[in-house]
Amino acid sequence: MKTKLFLTRRLPEPVMKKLSETFDLRYNEEDRVLSKEEIIENIKWCEILLCLLTDAIDKDVIAAKPNLKGIVNYAAGFNNIDLAEASKHGIPVTNTPDVLSETTADLAFTLICSIARRIVEADRFTRAGKFKGWEPELLLGRDIHHKTLGLIGAGKIGSEVAKRATGFEMKICYNNMSVNKELESATDAKFVELPHLLKQSDFISIHVPLTDKTHHMLGKKELALMKENAYLINTSRGAVIDEEALVNALKSNQIAGAALDVYESEPQIHPELINLSNVILLPHIGSASKATRVKMGMLAADNAVAISKGKIPPNIVNKEIYNRGDL
Ligand code: DGY
Repeated sequence: MKTKLFLTRRLPEPVMKKLSETFDLRYNEEDRVLSKEEIIENIKWCEILLCLLTDAIDKDVIAAKPNLKGIVNYAAGFNNIDLAEASKHGIPVTNTPDVLSETTADLAFTLICSIARRIVEADRFTRAGKFKGWEPELLLGRDIHHKTLGLIGAGKIGSEVAKRATGFEMKICYNNMSVNKELESATDAKFVELPHLLKQSDFISIHVPLTDKTHHMLGKKELALMKENAYLINTSRGAVIDEEALVNALKSNQIAGAALDVYESEPQIHPELINLSNVILLPHIGSASKATRVKMGMLAADNAVAISKGKIPPNIVNKEIYNRGDL
């Protein structure tokens, strides 16, 4: 008998094929986020839940199926899942790390270039028919080459951003839970304390997961340390930045600009951000390349297969449950 797997939203075709061949698959056929009640309804039927970062898997959802065999998240981040609650019930939770690091780093670097060289503004200007010929001071931006890049978080994605920065001969500094020797030898990046990074960087790119410790890690006080001509890039999770404080820093030109792919209360965006010209706003597309979204799905499927066979899944994020002999 195949394991019953419920998928909260359609994934790319090769992933759907693999899931339907391997599992007794049920999925949300409408292209929308399910309500909590709908997830609860479906979780009762399944043995494994394959969910997305837009699904809040909280205490109530877990309570609807406390003997669930596993929660497989189709994302590297897993802040949408109440991990403590899942662990309490001995439910393994998995994510899809690594396969999206380069794609997300590509986007972070694209944002660095786009905000510095005013690419989005320039495109709007051209389409509006305002281009009347070359001008000495038309849409002047800032250089990227030889500038200082500050990485907040230097895991896989941060390290990939650093590699791209070396091509622009940027100086790289980083703040991380621990020193990353591999990154240092590959890119000459220097470990610095957060205040130092904020004070000296021309571009600051965030690559930390959202946890209790990183929530609002950049607030009024931290933003005030940034240089007036510095840019903030966020492709991690919105709530790492206090969005209200960021709006104030941008409005008062305390910093030069921000390029954001993620927001504090997605899909809501602070209304004042929309009206600011010194920001770029993207709809959470960090990992959105065709190839990467398939890789994420295949990895999620591998995790689900391992769970269905009673094995420790390759991308377990609450491994401690096995040490307690819960499974
Ligand atoms: C993740 O996997 O956490 C990303 O945000 C998805 O784009």
